[in-house]
Amino acid sequence: VTSPASIPTDVSLSEIAARILSLPSARNIVPYGAVNPAPELLPIKKLNRILASVSTRSNSVANAYSPSSGMDELRRQIARRLFESGVNAVSGDVIVTCGATEAINLCLRAVTSPGDAVAVESPTYFGILQTIESLGLRAIEIPTHPREGVCLDALEKSLEQHQIKACVFVLNFSNPLGSLMPDEKKQKLVTMLAKAEIPLIEDDIYGDLHFGAARPKAAKAFDSEGLVMLCSSVSKTIAPGYRIGWTLPGKFKPQIELLKRTTTLATPTLLQLAIAEFLESDRYSRHLSAMRRTVAEHIERASAAIADYFPKNTKVTRPAGGCVLWVELPKSADALALYDKALIKGISISPGLLFSSDEQYRHCFRLNCGHPWSNRMEEALKTLGKIAAKLVSDFD
Ligand SMILES: Cc1ncc(COP(=O)(O)O)c(C=O)c1O
Repeated sequence: VTSPASIPTDVSLSEIAARILSLPSARNIVPYGAVNPAPELLPIKKLNRILASVSTRSNSVANAYSPSSGMDELRRQIARRLFESGVNAVSGDVIVTCGATEAINLCLRAVTSPGDAVAVESPTYFGILQTIESLGLRAIEIPTHPREGVCLDALEKSLEQHQIKACVFVLNFSNPLGSLMPDEKKQKLVTMLAKAEIPLIEDDIYGDLHFGAARPKAAKAFDSEGLVMLCSSVSKTIAPGYRIGWTLPGKFKPQIELLKRTTTLATPTLLQLAIAEFLESDRYSRHLSAMRRTVAEHIERASAAIADYFPKNTKVTRPAGGCVLWVELPKSADALALYDKALIKGISISPGLLFSSDEQYRHCFRLNCGHPWSNRMEEALKTLGKIAAKLVSDFD
């Protein structure tokens, strides 16, 4: 279990994040950094065909503004697919957004004011921390178990000690830990937050990438008070560039509708129609099965390679889904130095500093495994292992 300070903290990730995230994604760099699924895993040709057909068929519709809440065709498909996450939804519950990023941003704005404290997992996805920073909010990092997610006892204590206005959690295959909160624990979490009347912004962007047989439920499935604001997108499974996401904001729907209208007005119509058509066919399920198999294999092979090539006392997570591995080097190793040296060798990684508002994950880094396993990836891990071993021995 991680042990962050768990006090409200101003987030100041921007500088380090800007340096690392503004890096152009060059083709010749080994892509262990940003979580961009490999193009060969995405249904690009099928989407191109659908796009061409939708734009010809729909005449002026695809060229006009979409309703702010989204095109009915897409909202229906999103609601239909949510059945697998245990959520009983109708299209009217869904608001389409420009990616999960806009969904989370709108949800946070609907339920907080600048200066408020927001609970997050520790470590957590830097995009969540940056949104918190940009809205002038403060983050409280809650201790998190690498397998089971956020510690409910620690969260309960924080709720007693601090005025927390919202939680933003990635409960299904979190980024970067890959943790999966068991469904019974999700139910307890929802009950605990409902008692305290605190909204839960649930980012379920990785839920479809489960390696086991069944899709884990969304916390939204246990929500009877309308306090869970479910957010997700097609960025990790279909097309990150389309910027199609959504939220089911429960009782905060009127506020979210207003915020959506005044932020981006609407989401691109043609892209919504194309995604709706893709989701409607059985192609999505087939595509997901193939993608899950490839990513699960990468995670297994990369974990074995890390055991072979990295210094002893290196630890690595064992996620049951998602597409990242979190690696903890011996404490003396600086993962930012590893990042710099790896880049010279043409390998990108995401250093641990990005995932917290303090420096406690300096010796950790994240690997994106959303690519087919190959000799090139294995060689990259060998090189990373050698650099890490040198960093450790230089310190000793
Ligand atoms: C947990 C999490 N949420 C949200 C996002 C961003 O989603 P989108 O591209 O839909 O805005 C990412 C991307 O890496 C992510 O890992």
